[in-house]
Amino acid sequence: RKRAVVFISGGGSNMVALARAAQTPGYPVEIVGVIADKADAGGLEKAASMGIPTFAFQRGDFDSKAAHERAILTCLEGLTPDLLCLAGYMRLLSADFIRHYEGRILNIHPSLLPLFPGLHTHQRAIDAGMTEAGCTVHVVTEGMDEGPVLAQARVPVLPGDTAETLAARVLVEEHKLYPATLRAFAEDLV
Ligand code: GAR
Repeated sequence: RKRAVVFISGGGSNMVALARAAQTPGYPVEIVGVIADKADAGGLEKAASMGIPTFAFQRGDFDSKAAHERAILTCLEGLTPDLLCLAGYMRLLSADFIRHYEGRILNIHPSLLPLFPGLHTHQRAIDAGMTEAGCTVHVVTEGMDEGPVLAQARVPVLPGDTAETLAARVLVEEHKLYPATLRAFAEDLV
């Protein structure tokens, strides 16, 4: 099985979806660690309760972005992952970091990329009058929410939707799309 480390910043519901999938027979990936950039990220406890080793590297504890990323890279050397999965990791990885795992870092973003990269995607989709929204799993490259799209799922934007109601509808699809896409990606690597 391929070894994956999941990166989170928050509640980690996508991380849990990946970890649950990884527990099912025949899934081609195991989650060997969860890394957060916040010591209080809710997902850390969830990962620990599933028996997954967790690590927190707070940016404020390091002098520079480079030093922060070096600490994460050193941690990864011990975990020897084949793949990295960004799952609500709200920090841009440098080109130098990406180079170490070129073509092997996936991200999920809650919009139909290339539409609405970056923050506040749901509010921006609503403000733009979109009738459809969704989520995208893509390979991470240097730009924010750029890189080759692997898969997308769509949901309707309904009258009266707020950013919160739309986010919840999209999140249901994220929890299906990310495990399915990781499976397909990992099988292609074999
Ligand atoms: C998810 O909706 C994910 O797509 C989004 O953050 C949320 C994390 O939720 N990611 C981004 O916006 C990245 N630009 P989770 O911690 O419950 O998985």
